[in-house]
Amino acid sequence: MATTQNMTRPERTWETSRLLAKPAVVADAEVLFGDYASDSAVAKYMTWKPHRSVEETIQFLTRCERVWSEGSAFPWSLWRKQDGALAGMIEIRVGMSAVDLGYALARRWWRQGLMSEAVAAVVQWALAQPTIYRVWATCDVENLASARLLERVGMEREGVLRRWLIHPNLSEAPRDAICYSIVKAG
Ligand SMILES: CC(C)(COP(=O)(O)OP(=O)(O)OC[C@H]1O[C@@H](n2cnc3c(N)ncnc32)[C@H](O)[C@@H]1OP(=O)(O)O)[C@@H](O)C(=O)NCCC(=O)NCCS
Repeated sequence: MATTQNMTRPERTWETSRLLAKPAVVADAEVLFGDYASDSAVAKYMTWKPHRSVEETIQFLTRCERVWSEGSAFPWSLWRKQDGALAGMIEIRVGMSAVDLGYALARRWWRQGLMSEAVAAVVQWALAQPTIYRVWATCDVENLASARLLERVGMEREGVLRRWLIHPNLSEAPRDAICYSIVKAG
């Protein structure tokens, strides 16, 4: 298991004005499956296929618990403060000097600025860490919502990573992705 003792670790829980973030755990399986993981629109540009049973969501969340304990990635579930509803998920991976992130929101909450709020909070946290100089993310070249979101939180488009990632809902072959980043001034 990777040693993480000297590594920058994020808070387990944090909040924004409308969202509460908590480590994603197996106990979230039913709600995550119903409102998020089974939705083909949510999964379209992700690296996973829509879950067909709650068992798949349990497997996914088992992995979430494991990566938290290893410190190899930090997946949070996001909850609306207003009514306690599941909003979506965000995950970061912390490298030696860079943080990269991924995210998805349940469909009923799209286009209300919610994920911009969560991503902005993560970016702010990452750039406040002395060892972190770069925060970055990629999105499929056709994922306009994600590209716009990354621009909105202040990231700059670096270029296209050709044949970067398999999005199995679109193609079995790796597809081009846009790489966005924000770096410490300096
Ligand atoms: C990408 C996603 C997280 C955006 O979350 P969101 O909370 O709806 O986004 P926001 O409301 O914060 O909007 C951010 C910006 O994107 C724009 N946007 C959002 N959805 C859009 C869409 N479908 N098409 C075009 N622009 C869109 C918003 O207008 C806003 O731009 P603005 O400031 O110019 O108005 C959401 O669409 C989603 O979960 N998609 C499925 C999963 C996914 O693709 N994840 C990313 C993988 S890289």
